[in-house]
Amino acid sequence: MPDLTKPVPAAPAYSGPTRVFSGVQPSGSLHLGNYLGALVKFVAMQDSHECIFCVVDLHAITVPQDPERLAAQTREIAAAYLASGVDPKRSIIFPQSAVTAHAELAWIFNCVARMGWLERMTQYKEKSQGKDAENISVGLFDYPVLQAADILAYKATHVPVGEDQKQHLELSRDIAGRFNREFNAPDFFPLPEPLHQGPGARIMSLRDGSKKMSKSDPSDASRINLLDEADSIAKKIKRATSDSEPLPETVDGLKGRNEAANLVGIYAVLAGQTEADVLREFGGKGFGVFKPALAELAVAKLGPVATEMRRLMADPAEVDRVLRDGADRARAIAAPIMDDVRRVVGFWRP
Ligand code: TRP
Repeated sequence: MPDLTKPVPAAPAYSGPTRVFSGVQPSGSLHLGNYLGALVKFVAMQDSHECIFCVVDLHAITVPQDPERLAAQTREIAAAYLASGVDPKRSIIFPQSAVTAHAELAWIFNCVARMGWLERMTQYKEKSQGKDAENISVGLFDYPVLQAADILAYKATHVPVGEDQKQHLELSRDIAGRFNREFNAPDFFPLPEPLHQGPGARIMSLRDGSKKMSKSDPSDASRINLLDEADSIAKKIKRATSDSEPLPETVDGLKGRNEAANLVGIYAVLAGQTEADVLREFGGKGFGVFKPALAELAVAKLGPVATEMRRLMADPAEVDRVLRDGADRARAIAAPIMDDVRRVVGFWRP
């Protein structure tokens, strides 16, 4: 038995290759926040890293999903990755359920993670509140363990994460560290690091600048969906909550003006500029000038993405080819790692 009471010598630094892993759930439609906060960043990462992008359908079923629609939603996320510019030759795009290593490693990690660690997860605490608290799935509690398995089945070293996923990534590090110690395999798993996303990581609701843009917001006017038509995008931006002041000349002047800050931030990321650049152009001007400019920019940038998504979704053969090839390549990376995991844990192997 390993003796967990003894101090552990400093682990040697992990020396495997660097690798990026991220996942998007196939539940509900993607919006501008997903696009700017995740997809656009993923595209940029391909130049510097080996990237694995997963459609996390096993995570999606932690809450009820319609079996008739789940596969279509998986294809839709894959289409969004492709339409945003993820290159399926360089990067791997695949459905989580197509690679059994995720579920298998999650089980092993279930026996490494502690109840107390999971009970502290704020996302779980928030989701399990209310009248149905007794009736949530065990999967919802276990969600972050599966997430750790996603990342570590590939020994991924870097994970692009928004603010809301930081705690789950911390847990992945705790699981990796405890596995390495418990099985006396000091540098077996890397401790995955967050990749910070810079501006645009947090796009807020168009109705309330203090809330994140979210697919679960009952008001459709609060978000721009990736598949919205041009006139709907323009309308939502023009009706977005703002204030009556002109835009400030400097970034400092956006403090305390959540809605203004959000719209300037969206403009900046869409245009590939800094917020200071945007204010150099629009400082002193009112929303009557700024909103139409933002609407025009948003339509120009999002229109082609939506068109390409629709083309891909109309003929699933191309997307299916990408997903099948991605799953094959993902399996090929995970297989030798899982073989080592089974050896380290002590399972029978032929
Ligand atoms: N939990 C993530 C989210 O809701 C999705 C996810 C699942 C993920 N597995 C992952 C993200 C692994 C990064 C790495 O956004």
